[in-house]
Amino acid sequence: MNDYSRENFLDLNAFRGLGEDPVYRSPELTDRPRDWPLDRWAEAPRDLGYPDFSRYQWRGLRLLKDPEAQAAFHDLLWEFRPRTIVELGVYSGGSLVWFRDLTRLMGVDCRVIGVDKDLSRCQIPASEMTDIALHEADCTDLGTLEKLLGDVAHPLLLVDDAHADTFNVMRWAVDHLLHEGDYFVIEDMIPYWHRYSPALLEQYLASFHEVLTMDMVYANASPQLDRGVFRRTAAKG
Ligand SMILES: C[S@@+](CC[C@H](N)C(=O)[O-])C[C@H]1O[C@@H](n2cnc3c(N)ncnc32)[C@H](O)[C@@H]1O
Repeated sequence: MNDYSRENFLDLNAFRGLGEDPVYRSPELTDRPRDWPLDRWAEAPRDLGYPDFSRYQWRGLRLLKDPEAQAAFHDLLWEFRPRTIVELGVYSGGSLVWFRDLTRLMGVDCRVIGVDKDLSRCQIPASEMTDIALHEADCTDLGTLEKLLGDVAHPLLLVDDAHADTFNVMRWAVDHLLHEGDYFVIEDMIPYWHRYSPALLEQYLASFHEVLTMDMVYANASPQLDRGVFRRTAAKG
């Protein structure tokens, strides 16, 4: 339908970053041949020629983490050696397989738990689910996250890539899930929130000053993790 009489428009704000297709498809060049003639080498286009974000994949599954974020997570995983990674926001599931494979390659004994309110887009084949668990839960309904309690070993890396009610989820995680040294990572959103709601963002983050610090090794290491890498400090008392 190409006029505004259509019944429903998707909330593109909620949709942002996902792309529209959870299945990975190889890049397709539509405006140039793949095999470029060398006698016209100097005329070859210098741009990519296909959408960049949807090309990120891990073993054929879309992975919504760009190479800089991948490098930052790589270093964090190697240093931190988590026993559990919980990622809020699964989408196609590529990041869960990537986290599992990477920790496995590093010889880290780690389980990966993906949480999403809509697991229907997850593309992980059943044969690839070793050490990966999926939980259906809604971050805006904290009670549904309770199934995580008792299911995580520490050290724990908790990544918020669902971006729903993040600060309530963060408070819940601080109170119920995170031990000293565990990570809470907010992916993607800090630059937007800082641009559009700077006062609230600073106020919300400051309210956690007794229980979380920002890890300056990773806080500036990649745009997707920009100022969003936090660590649980020792509990008071
Ligand atoms: C950015 S994608 C996750 C991408 C994935 N982590 C990766 O790196 O490839 C965000 C996901 O969050 C999920 N989501 C959105 N709102 C949610 C909510 N309230 N509770 C749980 N999941 C939610 C969406 O269904 C979507 O699959």
